Formats: sequence, structure tokens, C-alpha cells
Amino acid sequence: MSGSVLRSVFAPLPLCVKCFVFARWTRAKTDQILEVMSFRACIVLSSFLLLGPTTFAAPPCSSVRAQPDVWVNGRVDALVRAAQAAYEDDDAVPAYQRVLDGISATLTQCKLSEDANFANRYRNFVEYIRTISLDRQSDHELGFVVPDRQYFAETRTFVEIPEFLMNQTFLRAVSRSETLERAKSYLRELNENREPSERLIFFSYKSRHLGTPDNDNSFKRLLIVVPGNTAQGVPEKWVQFGVTDPGRRVRIRNISVVSAIAGPEGKFDTYFKDYFRTYRRNGSISINGRWELGYGDDNCAKCHKSGILPIFPVAGSVSPAEQPAVETINQRFLTYGSPRFGKYLDQRKLGPGLSSATLEDRKRRFGASFEGSATARAMSCTACHQPQRFGSLSWPMDSTLIESYVIGGQMPFGYKLRDSERADLYEKLIREYFDTDKTQPGILKSWLLTRVQ
Ligand code: HEC
Ligand code: HEC
Repeated sequence: MSGSVLRSVFAPLPLCVKCFVFARWTRAKTDQILEVMSFRACIVLSSFLLLGPTTFAAPPCSSVRAQPDVWVNGRVDALVRAAQAAYEDDDAVPAYQRVLDGISATLTQCKLSEDANFANRYRNFVEYIRTISLDRQSDHELGFVVPDRQYFAETRTFVEIPEFLMNQTFLRAVSRSETLERAKSYLRELNENREPSERLIFFSYKSRHLGTPDNDNSFKRLLIVVPGNTAQGVPEKWVQFGVTDPGRRVRIRNISVVSAIAGPEGKFDTYFKDYFRTYRRNGSISINGRWELGYGDDNCAKCHKSGILPIFPVAGSVSPAEQPAVETINQRFLTYGSPRFGKYLDQRKLGPGLSSATLEDRKRRFGASFEGSATARAMSCTACHQPQRFGSLSWPMDSTLIESYVIGGQMPFGYKLRDSERADLYEKLIREYFDTDKTQPGILKSWLLTRVQ
């Protein structure tokens, strides 16, 4: 075989490995099927790439410059359609990424972001593309404006696991369901020597949303809230251990941390880190960053729009004795204020979120009879999910999460709706957001095409 044939046969391989990694990275709950499907999609993608660069040739810069409106309109339609497909089906993610990468490449090659006229006129579009493209760079897996290495170096003290949770006896007990009670006894003993305001709040539950980064099929968790101290600038830490299911030989490695630090003006900053445990032959357990160990990372902010997420466990998976702790912690983050991600992500660059349309717009899209329906009243997510409260629910976002909260009945907060009304609500929220209709564009397209000049 000649060198070039060999190259073209093997060139897509690293890509497929990446796709495999990507399947984990999405952390969606769709277990192994997802991995297999993404892998398949990847092979399709790789074969496309084999056709050579001409297949996806970018338009010459002269034509983009001559008719910027035509180019922007066309790309916005392609992007929003691909985003909706990717929202609904992980299999469509590679196609979405291709569209996004293509737009970024043209912006760079034609130096459009540096063209003051263009960048001003299409500011929403240019900044949006820049922000959602961050995690397309291999050293920006978290999707933040700085490389992952820098983020972890700068935020280390905020997300360190407290010393008392690294106790070996505790770590051994918390790693298995069979000994989880022992781990909880250890936490209760710690609490006996703590002031009421410093006591750990903890409970175990089963997640209805996602497995752990090291095992897509593992849903059991122990969540421990370690109180902070605003006056002393000590962050509040939410430390979550993945707990191995009963009878499983291979132990779960992941531990996740989200921290919250109160800031000025009713805002709080939130920082993220995943850790992996290493179970050594001699029985000792060490803890290192997941990213540092080479297991990649996730775009946490894609799902954690509001910084800390409420816990909406699988029904019956929390013991009656621990149920009050779930309510306590779900109340607790409501006191934090509006989320920010430090200087690492400006969520406003992602535009308005689900449900931020006017009644006039809705009557045109859904018909005059829409007004007054139960769905109409419930399409009010922006009362709470907007920059001044819990952050907007804008793309990129996770369908498992949003569907679960709306169909499962948690959202909109405080509404009683029938199942059929919930299904209708969800369908309309998604349509209204992603619609690319020419005369009646949805929330995302309208905003991307808003011209500043
Ligand atoms: C695919 C969506 C998704 C991604 C990506 C994601 N999370 Fe979460 N996370 C959730 C959900 C949903 C919960 C709430 C518990 C549940 O339902 O499983 C949660 C809960 C948590 C908790 C418990 C505290 C809380 O907010 O409720 C921690 C800690 C956590 N995640 C850390 C992380 C870190 C660190 C990352 C990035 C490395 C990350 N998560 C990425 C969906 C996600
Ligand atoms: C009256 C206020 C209110 C309304 C209206 C509301 N929510 Fe929420 N929502 C909350 C609160 C409070 C939380 C939990 C707080 C948090 O996550 O910080 C939450 C959390 C969520 C979450 C998980 C956390 C996140 O930010 O991703 C989703 C998804 C969600 N809401 C979707 C919706 C959708 C969709 C609607 C509209 C159909 C809606 N909500 C309407 C108050 C509201």
C-alpha cells in the first residue's frame, strides 16, 4: 500500500477516538447506545472527510464581503437547524459541529471579526459563534474563555476537596453502596463537633439525568454540601461522590465539585471540577483531577446554567429520613442570587433563552386561539430564567435536563399542568426557540440576525 492510501485509511482514526471520548463527554443518560451511535456517526463523518476539503469548500471571501447579509442569513439558518437536530439527537452532533466549525473558519479566513463594520453590524452573531466555538478547541474542553489548564490553576483553591473528605476510612466506605451507611456515620460524627451553621448537609439519591463520567450506567450519588463563609470569602462547596452499585466489582471513580462564592449585587460566582479516585492494590485511595489524569472534561456550564442545579432525584431513591435534606439544599442555592462563572464565561453572549417571546409573536406562530390556553400561561420561563435571576436557558443546552424538568413536572416552578399540557408546552417552547421560518423566525434566529447598525 502506498503511503498516501495508508494515510487516508488511517487519518480518520484519531477522529473516531475523539468521537468516542465525545460520547462520554456529553454525559447524557442514554447509556451505551449513545456511545455506539456516536461512534457510528463518527465513521460517517470520517468518511466524509476522506472525500477531501473541496466537499465543504467555504465561499470565497470576496463573495461573503460583497453580500454579507446573504452569507449570514444562510449560515444562521444552517446553524440553528443543526443545533435543533443536535439538541434532539446526539447522533446529529457531528453535523452541527461541522456547520459551526465552517462558520468559524470563514470568520477567521475572511478576517470578518476584525472588520469593524461587519463585527459591529452582526455583533450578536460574531460573539455567539466565538463563545459556542470555545469548546471546539482541544485545550478548552470546559468551554471557558481561558484554556482548561489555566482555569484549573486559577480556581484551584475554590474547588479543592476538603481535607476531612479525603480521610481513607471515609473514602473506602463511600465507594460502595454496601458500606455507604458507614460513610454517613462518619459525616454525622463530624457534625457533632461543628457549629450548627457549619454542619454538613448530605443525602444519597439516584440521578434521573446522567451517569458518571467513568460509567454512563451509574446513577447513585452521595451529595455533601459543605457550608462556606461569605464574610471570610470561603466558598460553599457541593461535593458529589459517585457510589458503586451493589455487587459491582469495578468501583466508581468520579467525584464532582461545584462551588459558590457570594459576590456583589446579588450575584454569586460558581466554579467546577471533576476528580477521579484511584483505587490502589494496597487498599489506599488517591484523588486527582479527572482532566489532570488525562480523562478529558465536560462543558459543565452547558447544563449548569444556574450554577448549582436543583436535585430532582428518581422517585423513592431518597430515604424518608434524608428527604428534609433534599429540601434544605434545594432551598439553599436559591439564596445565592444570580449565577456567574467568574471571568470565564459571559452567558449573555449566548442570547435570550427559552420562552423569551412576546404574546404577539406567539399568536402569529401558534394561532389566535393560543392566547388564554394553559400552555400560554405556562410559557413564562423567563420570569425566572433570565440574566438577572437564574440565567437564560439558551443553546447550547441539554435536552435530557430540560425535557425532564418540563415533562417530569418540576417546571415551570409552581404550575399544575396535565400531562398533555406539559407535552404541548415542551413542544411549543422548543419550536418557538429554534424556528427558522423566513417570516416568523424563532428566538435564536431573530436574535442572531438582529443588526446593531
Ligand atoms: C449533561 C448535563 C451536565 C453536565 C455536562 C454536567 N452536569 Fe453536573 N449535574 C447535572 C444535573 C442534571 C445535576 C443534578 C443532579 C442530577 O439530576 O443528576 C448535576 C449535579 C451536579 C453536582 C451536584 C450539585 C448540584 O449542582 O446539584 C455537581 C457537584 C456537579 N453536577 C458537577 C459537575 C461538573 C464539575 C461538571 C463539569 C465537569 C458537570 N457537573 C457537568 C448535569 C450536568
Ligand atoms: C417562578 C420561577 C420559575 C419559572 C417560571 C420557571 N422556573 Fe425553572 N427553575 C426555577 C428555580 C427556582 C430553579 C432551581 C434554581 C436553580 O436552578 O438555580 C429552576 C430550575 C430549572 C431547571 C434546571 C436548572 C437549570 O437552570 O438548567 C430547568 C431546566 C428549568 N428550571 C426549566 C424551566 C422551564 C423550561 C421553564 C418554563 C416552562 C421554567 N423553568 C420556569 C424557577 C422557575
